[in-house]
Amino acid sequence: MPTFQTVRGMRDLLGEEAQTFTNVITKARETASLFGFKEAVTPHVEPLELLSAKSGDEIRQRMFIFEDLGGRQVALRPEFTASIARLATSTLKNEPKPLKLFSVGTVYRYDEPQRGRYREFWQSNFELMGSNKPEADTEIILLTDRLMRTLGLQSYAFKIGHIGIIRGILSQDGVDEKTQNAVLQRMDKKEYELALKLVDSEKCRSTLQGLINIKGKDWYDTIEQINVLVAGYEKAKAAAENLSEVLKLITSSAELSLTVEPAFARGLEYYTGMIFEVYIPQLEIALGGGGRYDRLIETFGGEPTPAVGCAHGIDRVVIALQTQNTAGSINVERKVAAVIPITESVKVEALKIAQLLRERGVSVEFEIMGRRMGKALEDADKRNFDYAVIVGERELKEGTVVVKDLKSHEQTTILILDLFEKIKN
Ligand code: HAM
Repeated sequence: MPTFQTVRGMRDLLGEEAQTFTNVITKARETASLFGFKEAVTPHVEPLELLSAKSGDEIRQRMFIFEDLGGRQVALRPEFTASIARLATSTLKNEPKPLKLFSVGTVYRYDEPQRGRYREFWQSNFELMGSNKPEADTEIILLTDRLMRTLGLQSYAFKIGHIGIIRGILSQDGVDEKTQNAVLQRMDKKEYELALKLVDSEKCRSTLQGLINIKGKDWYDTIEQINVLVAGYEKAKAAAENLSEVLKLITSSAELSLTVEPAFARGLEYYTGMIFEVYIPQLEIALGGGGRYDRLIETFGGEPTPAVGCAHGIDRVVIALQTQNTAGSINVERKVAAVIPITESVKVEALKIAQLLRERGVSVEFEIMGRRMGKALEDADKRNFDYAVIVGERELKEGTVVVKDLKSHEQTTILILDLFEKIKN
């Protein structure tokens, strides 16, 4: 029989990499708590109809869809937003607003696998529902900034736009919603020529081309340029005004590197307002992204509820940390000790010593292979343990054990009572 492998695009995470994932998740959870988001754990499988409703073609065509044994059309979640919007229209519909929910876990998309692009990947997801104020958009950007910073990432930068500017231009020039979505999909992929080809009106094409040419780090100046371009487009003007309010709040409350790109679009169809992504200079793929979606909850049958949110791609954040060589800095420092009983007769006492150390936060590997001391020590050394605690009959009688520092190779006999202090230092 051939040996089994993971399904294409899905990975096993092991050792240090798995530890880095866990650390990123811990930081994401801490960030959620700092910003007042409560955790929601939702199913991996949801009704197909829910997941495909407003996600957009890009995601719709890449879902893992199947029929369950009861004949229901279901799919593996490609993101969290639909599940959280479902909650907001059902179980949590009477909760006081704002509703702030955090989730973390795997999501599934049939993307073409490559570095940073998998078919099963991890997201940390934040949704803030019930506020249409620019303060809410600002909080989402600030929490992303906070997460990137506490992870130790250097020189990450935000790209910010507003879907209302592009849609405002298209709708005023008579482009229907379906074509608008198709244009936005092309723009998301930076296929600008193809995007413009979908638009009949010459005036609309030239305004969009103007938008594509605008891009700047000085947000105030960039907004001015947009204002000049969209003069006469009422909805686009209001969107630019809203974007400028968000940018003013962000830049006056945090020092972050950002570029305003009004022609920037995202693959998901539900966005209605500010959208953003975050990058590091060494990687072309976004580490995270999100935006405002004021009509999704209503589409799912709920009360009209403005909302804004974001998701961070943890697999990519881990690659970014490895690229910038900071993955090690967020590892939890923990001393590791091997506890080795020399004879059968001291096994119980040795186990008690192991438990004592674990209780005080030392990571302990008890000798469970029944090896002789020499072999067990060799193994502990090979696996880079800090200490070996050797438990022998003669020492036990005196309330002591032998501790071997595996880094300096020093060996001392000490009282069991002093063992923790010795290892801690
Ligand atoms: P998204 O941009 O589709 O947004 O995904 C968020 C992040 O997930 C991306 O920035 C990227 O880091 C990561 N990601 C996406 N596809 C892959 C892949 N194939 N492999 C590895 N990582 C990937 C959303 O999912 C929205 N639900 C975000 C949101 C929440 N908007 C509002 N609320």
